[in-house]
Amino acid sequence: RRPFVASAPGKVIMFGEHAVVYGKSAIAGSVDMRAYALVVPHSGHAVRLVLPDIGVDIAFDGRRLPRVQPGALAHPGDVEALLAEGIDVPDGPGRMAALVFVYLYGSLVADTGAQGFSICVRSLLPVGAGLGSSAAYSVALSAALLQLTGQLHGDGASEGDRRLINGWAFQGEQVAHGTPSGIDNSVATYGGFLEYTKGRDPAPLQSTRALRVVITNTNVPKSTKALVAGVRALRDAHPAIVDSILDAIHSVSTTAAELFQAPDADDSDAEQRLHDIVRVNHGLLMALGVSHPSLERVRDIAARYRMASKLTGAGGGGCALTLVPSGAPKSATAEVAAAMAADGFECYDTVVGGAG
Ligand code: MEV
Repeated sequence: RRPFVASAPGKVIMFGEHAVVYGKSAIAGSVDMRAYALVVPHSGHAVRLVLPDIGVDIAFDGRRLPRVQPGALAHPGDVEALLAEGIDVPDGPGRMAALVFVYLYGSLVADTGAQGFSICVRSLLPVGAGLGSSAAYSVALSAALLQLTGQLHGDGASEGDRRLINGWAFQGEQVAHGTPSGIDNSVATYGGFLEYTKGRDPAPLQSTRALRVVITNTNVPKSTKALVAGVRALRDAHPAIVDSILDAIHSVSTTAAELFQAPDADDSDAEQRLHDIVRVNHGLLMALGVSHPSLERVRDIAARYRMASKLTGAGGGGCALTLVPSGAPKSATAEVAAAMAADGFECYDTVVGGAG
């Protein structure tokens, strides 16, 4: 029983946000910023969870936590009942993360006779930026606890292992968010790119492509709910116009899925087409009214370097992504990021479409 690490990436919506609400397809990809769970097994029955970045350090006697019936609890309120067992969960930002852990522990570890351990999770993903930090946490944690209790067949990479991890991570996400779509935990589990349509299982795309992307956090706070409601109001007022915009966004997503899955497409041609659809997708989102001056500023800066940007996620602030041509020197990315940082934006130089 040696220490080990389980990790999972964050996600970014590449194409199709907002249209996905109306049953259109969206494409998400993994970002190479990850959550890492370090597990240190030890003798005795003490269990300890440490999340240094958000001030969580809880400990309990593993024998005192009753087993949670798998699938029986999907709400924070239910999990809180477990806390009546005397586990001291903090208030504040770490509370949800602690509840997810208690839920997964109660489902996966309690009653297996497993000995004590401590688990420390650190994440390179900014919280609340729409980059799937909670799903990365949930996937890394699920993989760690399944590995600890010998429930994985291999190192977590086989199809069966991934399905198991993803299922548990989705339950963790339900504890944290109520009714998530499942796209974030699927990207964090499988990596690469994934096509998502409401009501269907997310479909991983068979892609060997990874994209160089600068993700820019404008740090402008946004309300996803208000932005989604704004699009709905516009659609109510102008159904024919808005439906054709949503259909156009759907075509952007299906074009992206084709490009990602065509391994022998001429690379420079595929890259030009990707550049085009990033630009077009942003224009369509702007027409829906979900851009913001800060996002237009990001786009202007990128355009100076002949790079295409679009908002990602809900818009109205939040994050943008900028596609970096594969042939561009490292210095080009650094220059764009520096220009954006000079405007007070936070930039992450990432690769999208890497391993889960
Ligand atoms: C927000 O990250 C994505 C939206 O499409 C909303 C949603 O899909 O629930 C704007």
